[in-house]
Amino acid sequence: MDLTELVRKAFAEAFPGEDFANVKVVPATDPRFGDYQCNDALKIAKKVGLKPRDAAAKVAGRIGGALKVEIAGPGFLNLTVSPEWLAGELAALAAAPKCGIPQKGAGRRVVIDYSSPNAAKQMHIGHIRSTVIGCAIDRIFRALGYEVVADNHLGDWGTQFGILIKGYRECLTDDERANLTVATLEKCYVLSAAKAKEEDGVWKDACRAELVKLQQGDAENLALWKRFIEISIGEFERMYSKLGVKFDTYRGESYYNPMMPGVVEKLLAAGLAKESEGALIVDLSEEKLGVAIVRKSDGGYNYTTSDLACVESRVKDYNPERIIYVTDDRQQLHFKQFFSIAEKMGFTGVKLVHVPFGLMSYQGKAISTREGNLIKLDDLLAEAKRRALEIVAERGGDERLAEQIGYGAVKYADLSHDPATAIDFNWDKALALEGNSGPYLQYAYARVCSLLEKAGIGESRPEGSAFAVETPAEKRLALQLLEFPGAVVRAAEAYKPSVLADYLFQTAQLYSSFYQSSPILKSEESVRNARLALCALFGDVLKTGLSLLGIETPRHI
Ligand code: ARG
Repeated sequence: MDLTELVRKAFAEAFPGEDFANVKVVPATDPRFGDYQCNDALKIAKKVGLKPRDAAAKVAGRIGGALKVEIAGPGFLNLTVSPEWLAGELAALAAAPKCGIPQKGAGRRVVIDYSSPNAAKQMHIGHIRSTVIGCAIDRIFRALGYEVVADNHLGDWGTQFGILIKGYRECLTDDERANLTVATLEKCYVLSAAKAKEEDGVWKDACRAELVKLQQGDAENLALWKRFIEISIGEFERMYSKLGVKFDTYRGESYYNPMMPGVVEKLLAAGLAKESEGALIVDLSEEKLGVAIVRKSDGGYNYTTSDLACVESRVKDYNPERIIYVTDDRQQLHFKQFFSIAEKMGFTGVKLVHVPFGLMSYQGKAISTREGNLIKLDDLLAEAKRRALEIVAERGGDERLAEQIGYGAVKYADLSHDPATAIDFNWDKALALEGNSGPYLQYAYARVCSLLEKAGIGESRPEGSAFAVETPAEKRLALQLLEFPGAVVRAAEAYKPSVLADYLFQTAQLYSSFYQSSPILKSEESVRNARLALCALFGDVLKTGLSLLGIETPRHI
């Protein structure tokens, strides 16, 4: 039986009529105090007017069987599990599908909006965080049984298309036009944007005219725009396939364009928007969120309007319980503003969540366009592969393996940090074989695979694994493995894949202490089998956990 359930039941028996749904049993912070602890006796004591230790004693007397209970300090319950209970739980975990990840999301739908680069530009190193963090959150929610709609909210509409169309027509050669790539688009944008700065304003006006034609549905400009978007998506998908990222839809900003006037009408009708200096604004100063413009003085709509139309459309099409947006933390005000407006518009049945991430620097230097150190994502991945190949080639590893290790290293370097913090990407750290790195965890997996192979255990596990936990190192690893489903849940609740990464790293370290202190293949049969079962479970947990982070687990390195 689930430990928390067991303890809740004891609480309910000791204090009938009270609600104990929030009683928590957590792993003990120090193994000297038992395996788990529960601090809820203190709360109920206050409520019913008992001394905390007496309340704890009342509960303790009702917890029996699998658990040894000690009352500590002011009334903490320290719980120690029996070896039988542990063996039973391990066997249940080993037999459970998906390593016991609870299907909390069954029948529930979420939209995750991530990566979302701007069209006609190559993805650069700045896009890695939204892509990698978003993808991990996506995988974690899917594993929990949620129905996930992964939506790439491309920046595919706006003034840049006037500049691009003009540049395409006049700054490119016939050959470049015929073999259009994102790199060429980027080049023609730069050339055209520079000309748009010329003093006479002729080029700028021409760009503007192209934009207006596009907005009015001119067939030629629309066809060009479509081509730019298709080429961009093709290029993005080349990156995504390297990174194992898949989207269900690519509804970019343009998709919501026709809906913007309707949104503004609703805001006006609800008395939420008002005129200010020719623009239309929503005043959020009471909430200390300043003022959000929803229609500019030139009549154009902006990012806020587009995101409001987007919420409306997502609610209508998908009716999700949550929409999760993964962007850098410079957009925090934007999200706070439009979440607040959406709520006022009545979109209260959907929970809107912004997962902001800190900026990434590269080898100690800020990434900036001006400094010219804006590394293309393609180049970063190529470099990761090249460096990984140097490492794996010594052991006869091939290009495919180098991709698995190199891309895994890049992802883990990001995912092992709390998204909210700024991070520095450093090759030596990312590719280190020791320490908290992707390759370290991948090696740990490959090592456990080769151990199991030596023991004659392949990918399918033997029936009815004979778990038996005896030594302290075994027990620590065993208790940690049982925490896997909980770690996945916590990562989802906090929208932080780093929670899972931390868990996996700690687990690998406990495995390593266990492995060093416990002979396996040379032990007598029952011990050998019990230890192999623990190794196999560790392998399964590590593989499943890494896959949720989008990191592959080759069996041989
Ligand atoms: N395209 C935006 C950017 O490059 C991110 C869009 C995020 N999603 C959204 N619904 N606003 O920063």
